[in-house]
Amino acid sequence: MRALVAGEVGEPNDVLRLESRPVPTPEAGQALIRVKAAPVHASDLHVLRGRYGFSPEFPTVGGHMECVGLIESLGRHTEGLKIGERVVAVAVPAVPGPRAAGTWQEYLVADVHRLVPVPDRLSDSSACQLAVNPLTALLLVARELDVQSGEWLLQTAAGSTVGRLVIQLARHLGIRTINVVRRRDAVEELKAFGGDEVICTEDEDLLQRVTEIAGPAGVRKAIDCVAGPVGAQVSQALAPGGEVVVYGALSTHRQTDPAALTIPLLARSVIYETKVVRGFWLNHWFGTASPTDVLRALSEVRSLVAADVLSIPQGKPFPLERFAEAISFAETPAHGAKPLLVFEDVRDKDDE
Ligand SMILES: NC(=O)c1ccc[n+]([C@@H]2O[C@H](COP(=O)([O-])OP(=O)(O)OC[C@H]3O[C@@H](n4cnc5c(N)ncnc54)[C@H](OP(=O)(O)O)[C@@H]3O)[C@@H](O)[C@H]2O)c1
Repeated sequence: MRALVAGEVGEPNDVLRLESRPVPTPEAGQALIRVKAAPVHASDLHVLRGRYGFSPEFPTVGGHMECVGLIESLGRHTEGLKIGERVVAVAVPAVPGPRAAGTWQEYLVADVHRLVPVPDRLSDSSACQLAVNPLTALLLVARELDVQSGEWLLQTAAGSTVGRLVIQLARHLGIRTINVVRRRDAVEELKAFGGDEVICTEDEDLLQRVTEIAGPAGVRKAIDCVAGPVGAQVSQALAPGGEVVVYGALSTHRQTDPAALTIPLLARSVIYETKVVRGFWLNHWFGTASPTDVLRALSEVRSLVAADVLSIPQGKPFPLERFAEAISFAETPAHGAKPLLVFEDVRDKDDE
C-alpha cells in the first residue's frame, strides 16, 4: 500500500515521500480501515515541522488527526462493527497517551473505541473532518467557556473551519459573535454566513471596534487561534474578569523557534483586571476525558452535523500523489477550502 512518510523533521514538502509499505494486520480490539479521505490540517504540518505539542518517532506517516474510510477487516473483540461499514477514524494522539497511526496512508489500523460510524448522507468530505474541528468548536463554546444565550463571544480567524463552526453553533445556541478576520473581502461573506459582527484587522482597530460593539466593558469570553499581537489585543478587549481561550497560533504558522511563538500580553491589563488567558488542546482533552465522555461528545457532534446545525465546509480533494500541491494549497492565504488527500474519487451527491 502507499503511505506518505516523513523521514525526519522539516519542511513538509522537503521531507515527505510516497513509500510502499505492507498492509497492517488488526489485533484484538482493532479494525483495519481502508482510508478514503484525510484532511491536511495546520496541526499536521506543525507535527512535521517539529513545532507541535508532541513529536512522533521519525520516520512517521503524516496526518495525525482524522480520516474517513471503510472497515476492511476486524480483529477479535470488535463486536458491534461490520466489515464494509464507513467510519471516521479519530487519530488524534491523546497526550499523555499512546501515539496513533498516521492517516495519510491507504490502510491504517485503529482501536475500535476511536471509530465513529457515519450516516450515508454525510459526504466523505464532511465525514473526514467530523472529529477535530467540530469537536473543538463544541468544546470551546459549550464546555471551556460555557457561553450562554445572549452573551457575546469574540473570536479570531473567524473564517477558518473552526470559526465557521463556532458561528453556526453560536446561532443555534443564541450566542452573539464578534468575528475577527484579516482580510476586508472576508467581511461581507462572514456576515452573510451568520456572524453578528465582523472586525477586519486589515483596516480596523480591534479594541476600538469591540468597544463600539459590546460597550466600554468589553466582552467576557473570547477564543483565539492567531496569537501574537492579535491575540494580545483580544486579551485587552476583554472585560475585567474576562477569559480568553487560546487554541492556535496561526500568526506564527511557519515559525519553528519556540521562543518566537508568543502572545505579548499587557501585564497591567491582565493583573489589575484579573483576566484569564489559558490554553485548549484537543489532544490533552482526549488524554483526560473518559471514554464515555469522548463517545458522548463525538456523538453530539455527529448529531449536530447530521441535523445540519453544523455544516462542515466542503474540502478540496487532491489525489495522494499530488500531496505537494495539497500542502502548498493549505498554506496559501485565502485558500478557502480545506485540502483533503483522497485515495479514490470521493465526489458524491452531497459534494456536488
Ligand atoms: N487546540 C486545538 O486542539 C485545536 C483543534 C483544532 C484546530 N485548532 C487550530 O485552529 C486553527 C484553525 O484551524 P482550521 O482547520 O479551522 O483552519 P483553516 O480552515 O485551515 O483556516 C485557516 C484560517 O486562518 C486564517 N489565518 C491564517 N493565518 C492567519 C494569520 N496570520 N492571521 C489571521 N488569520 C489567519 C485564514 O484566513 P485567510 O482566509 O485570510 O487566509 C483562514 O481563515 C488552527 O490554528 C488550528 O491549529 C486547534
